[in-house]
Amino acid sequence: MKMSRAQLYRRIDQAEEGEWESLKRLAEQSPWRQKYHIQPVAGLLNDPNGFAFYEGEYHLFYQWFPLGTGHGMKYWYHTSSSDLVHWKNRGIGIAPGGPFDSHGAFSGSAIEKDGKLYLMYTGNTRSPDWIRHPFQCMAVMEPDGAITKLEQPVILKVPRGYTDHFRDPKVWKADGSYYCVIGAQRLDMTGSAVLFRSPDLRQWHFEGEIGTSLKSFGYMWECPDYFELDGTGILLFSPQGMTPQGDRFRNIYQSGYLTGKPINLSDREFHHGEFRELDYGFDYYAPQTTQAPDGRRLMTAWMGLPEIDYPTDDHGWAHCLTLPRELSLENGRLIQRPVRELTKLRGCKTEAGTVVKDETVSIAELAGTAYELLVHIQEDGADRFGIEFRAGRHERTVIYYDRKEGKLVLDRSLSGQSFALEYGTERKCPLQLRDGMLILHLFVDISSVEVFANDGEATFTARIFPERESTGVNLFAEGGKAVFDAVKWDTQ
Ligand code: FRU
Repeated sequence: MKMSRAQLYRRIDQAEEGEWESLKRLAEQSPWRQKYHIQPVAGLLNDPNGFAFYEGEYHLFYQWFPLGTGHGMKYWYHTSSSDLVHWKNRGIGIAPGGPFDSHGAFSGSAIEKDGKLYLMYTGNTRSPDWIRHPFQCMAVMEPDGAITKLEQPVILKVPRGYTDHFRDPKVWKADGSYYCVIGAQRLDMTGSAVLFRSPDLRQWHFEGEIGTSLKSFGYMWECPDYFELDGTGILLFSPQGMTPQGDRFRNIYQSGYLTGKPINLSDREFHHGEFRELDYGFDYYAPQTTQAPDGRRLMTAWMGLPEIDYPTDDHGWAHCLTLPRELSLENGRLIQRPVRELTKLRGCKTEAGTVVKDETVSIAELAGTAYELLVHIQEDGADRFGIEFRAGRHERTVIYYDRKEGKLVLDRSLSGQSFALEYGTERKCPLQLRDGMLILHLFVDISSVEVFANDGEATFTARIFPERESTGVNLFAEGGKAVFDAVKWDTQ
């Protein structure tokens, strides 16, 4: 049931008596609750926010609407972890409802300064006639976790030349100054990212637009992020309004990156290559990165997309975050690997090896609903080969390699309860075998899969909603042979 605007823009303290408790009970009973992904107790989760290591712990917030599964009054919900694997729910981080965030504490980021964690976010406001005005706000977290908002926004106005679609500050420090990129829409309705500079995180100066060659690339860039890796500048953002081109841009909105020489912060010029999508799956948006104390660049994202109904909506909750991934660069491309800490989730281990020729072989030992599966597949004449998982009598999710096309394909047409059908049920990406070998590394949870192919060269992230009983894993080859070597760890 769709909520009215008035219902959507309620804070949790404005819930009806018992409403929150019954929503939580409903969510608890959902058969699709995840086992090891960050998910909301109830309500809707979207973008990761404020990802940072502070006072010996990782802090990761997310956009949260508590009272339903629509995009309503957004909070920052706070989670923390000492190992990037086990996350503790810490409750509300930033509550909306003040004069500068009356209609939501929208996305933003975090940075440590003088022993405190500064949380910079977009305060969303609406006038009575529903005109949006965004403020860039700041909240400060103390070592004990207490968070206080600054009374005044740190950026009051949208600079000339941009519309009120102006949000999602991502802050970093360079050469003794603080910088932030903000997602913006130009008055000609094209998307861009702009740069601000600050000596102290409180006074911000508008520097201007990041100079890219993408003058007309979608109508809005959400959630920009900038960082440098091995001397290369990387700009991530989530453009809205792209038209599908072949296998690219198949989702409602995209997330991707540009790489180039580090941005010259004085003239903001960025000489970059082509825009590449970060993930080839169905459910991936609004990624955010942070730097670990040991220097690793870590990234997590929302495993979902806006404006799409998901099967758990009827169960009082929606969405989860992706697993944290470690980024590296190879030949100008981002490589994503699951963070090594995730090996902590490895429980009971099973190994299976087999040669498959023009058949589909079910491997009983590999069955399950939540596990990590690492499979090396040596092509030996087969035109197509791959893995069916969460397979049951009528269901299966399929990841396979099509040698004629030179593409890896994820097919969720039979994955279980269907949704978002208007965006198709297949995703493909070009990928080369390595000496005839394909490596598939799957993280399967109760209602999702994250596929890392060829050691992080390509990833596919998708929600799937199979029945509990659909636990099977089948290996298949068509038109010849393929040699499979599989290791599975049940999630503990
Ligand atoms: C991206 C986004 C952001 C915004 C937030 C609101 O999904 O639209 O641009 O800050 O979600 O929840």
